Amino acid sequence: MPETPSFVPGPQYDGWLTGVDQIAYGGDYNPEQWPEDVWAEDVRLMNEAGVNLVSLGIFSWALLEPREGEFDFGWLDRVIGLLHAGGVRVLLATPTAASPAWLYAAHPDARVIDRNGTPMGPGGRGLMAPTAPAYREAALRITTALAERYGKHPAVVGWHVHNEYGAPVSLDYSVHAQRAFREWLRERYGSLDALNAAWGTAFWGQHYADWEHVQVPAATATSANPAQQLDFARFSDAALRACFVAERDAIREHSTAPVTTNFMATSCPSTDLFAWGREVDIVSNDHYLWAADPRGHVGLAMAADLTRSVAGGKPWLLLEHSTSAVNWQPRNVAKRPGEMARNSFSHLGRGADSIMFFQWRASRSGAEKFHSAMVPHAGTESRVWREVVDLGANLGRLTELRGSRVHADVALLWDYESFWAQDLEHRPSEGTSHRERIDTYYDRLWRDGHIVDLVRPGQDLSGYKLVVAPASYLLRADDAANLTAYVEAGGTLLVSYFSGIVDEHDAVHPAGYMAPLRDALGVWVEEFLPLRDGDSLTVRYGADAAGAGPGATDLTGTVWADDLVLAGAEPVGTYADGPKPGGAAITRHRHGAGTGWYVSTNLDVDALATVMADVYAEAGLAPSGIVEGLEVVRRTGGDAEYTVAINHTDDDAKLPLAAPATDLLTGDAVTGDADVPAGAVRVLRTTTR
Ligand code: GAL
Repeated sequence: MPETPSFVPGPQYDGWLTGVDQIAYGGDYNPEQWPEDVWAEDVRLMNEAGVNLVSLGIFSWALLEPREGEFDFGWLDRVIGLLHAGGVRVLLATPTAASPAWLYAAHPDARVIDRNGTPMGPGGRGLMAPTAPAYREAALRITTALAERYGKHPAVVGWHVHNEYGAPVSLDYSVHAQRAFREWLRERYGSLDALNAAWGTAFWGQHYADWEHVQVPAATATSANPAQQLDFARFSDAALRACFVAERDAIREHSTAPVTTNFMATSCPSTDLFAWGREVDIVSNDHYLWAADPRGHVGLAMAADLTRSVAGGKPWLLLEHSTSAVNWQPRNVAKRPGEMARNSFSHLGRGADSIMFFQWRASRSGAEKFHSAMVPHAGTESRVWREVVDLGANLGRLTELRGSRVHADVALLWDYESFWAQDLEHRPSEGTSHRERIDTYYDRLWRDGHIVDLVRPGQDLSGYKLVVAPASYLLRADDAANLTAYVEAGGTLLVSYFSGIVDEHDAVHPAGYMAPLRDALGVWVEEFLPLRDGDSLTVRYGADAAGAGPGATDLTGTVWADDLVLAGAEPVGTYADGPKPGGAAITRHRHGAGTGWYVSTNLDVDALATVMADVYAEAGLAPSGIVEGLEVVRRTGGDAEYTVAINHTDDDAKLPLAAPATDLLTGDAVTGDADVPAGAVRVLRTTTR
């Protein structure tokens, strides 16, 4: 048997889910889709699987308030009572992500309008216009009624507000948005002169002389003003957040339980999660694998790392993932045996203190009937159910991990404004993608066994040995100054192409491309030299001045090249061909006590290995020495270090251990190398004292 836990969760557990005394385990529970006699069976099965938490009532508005102002809480009382009696705690949802038909009928103006003027709903789900007074009032009415009734219920240990703000639509072009956007702009700019200057309206004669003429950027004959679109993205995010804050505050009038809402880290760039993270009591996330990607577990790791970063390193809740296939991708691939556990342990290793699923019992009707669940259509005589029960039992052995923390030596910039700006039209090459560069650099770091935080360019970076800035197109001058100060103080910064190009208004920096990073990198960009589709070029890397030498390696670049002007940096890679043969391609620059690297072309994950090996050495990052495909993450708490090892390969692997360990899943003592069989997971505790 595993030993008694040595780590007692610390003060960061203030406001945690009272009464959930283990790693939280469960999922979305939609009992209204089933006759009541199934509910008792559900609770019995939840106990069998070790489920201790469910998210309840996420889409139940029409049943809870069948007519405006008329509530029916009887069924919810009975469900919560059954769960409570069975020891299952509840994250009670506010159902405002699926408005009832009567609300649409009474207030058609409150529907979301898309860019082309098409109104959305009813009959699906997704919020109504976030700035529509009728929606906001109705959402607060049902939220308040739920909080009043259940705010002190002992089974209700937290609040799940709404569902995935930003999905399925985040931009609304309704008359309400029009009014609210103008108000938001007046507040932001104070005067039309300031707005005209920020938006650069002298271009194409877009100058505004009257606030009433300022519009949401709906469809236009040609590209809309990019600064206007960027502000609309900011405004739309703020409008969604205002909906959350209003519901949260209504709940707080009646309940002291923590309030959260489920994010979609990495899959919904329209919500600035760093801003949202400041508003929730506990950060929560949903994650689904992209089935077409056989290396989806790397994307999963990045989503988990972003969630932890948004939570400021504190533990977070995984509120949804899938036991097997989803239903909404072009080809919905079932998870292989053991894959659900590997996914779960990767989230856990990266800081999640809950493992939850969409959903508890598979739906018989509706758009998601082919989505997997904890109780599949096949029932309990099934592989999925057996794996669900096993996972619950294993999580029950890991209570002592709760509250322990993950340490990252590497930071990767993740800046929502840069996403919003870079993804607009009329960029130098449609081959460039902020997200693609982030994914590729993250993949390299993952393969090399480094744990990564995803950070904003303006935050304190002093704790990181290496900061990577992949295609940070929009970079405010003060954020660039922060990166420069990081290098000056001894940090290693790596910047990839198309970075530091525009300011917060999507206007090119006055001193030219990449000018704000010139001190840190010792180089700037005279002209972009993007490649034709399908073309590639050669970078001679590590060569001496004559283009040869023992370390010289040819690397293939695609998509992009720059005409660089050296301002102190040394070229460590030179274009052997392409649009600027002989020009610097990769540079390195000592600045203060640190170093700035610049990579001016698109290197794939294999080519990056060569460059990154030198960057790691410069940053003092030791190679992990772990076989590729064996994911190893560590959490520390008290005097314990927990190593979560996940073998994604089809071969058995060995993990060298620095000290004797205890396997928390089996209770076995482990010394020397720990065996991690193909596809398996191990959780090992060592003592750091
Ligand atoms: C999530 C959503 C769930 C369910 C799930 C299916 O985005 O929050 O309600 O639809 O997708 O994968």
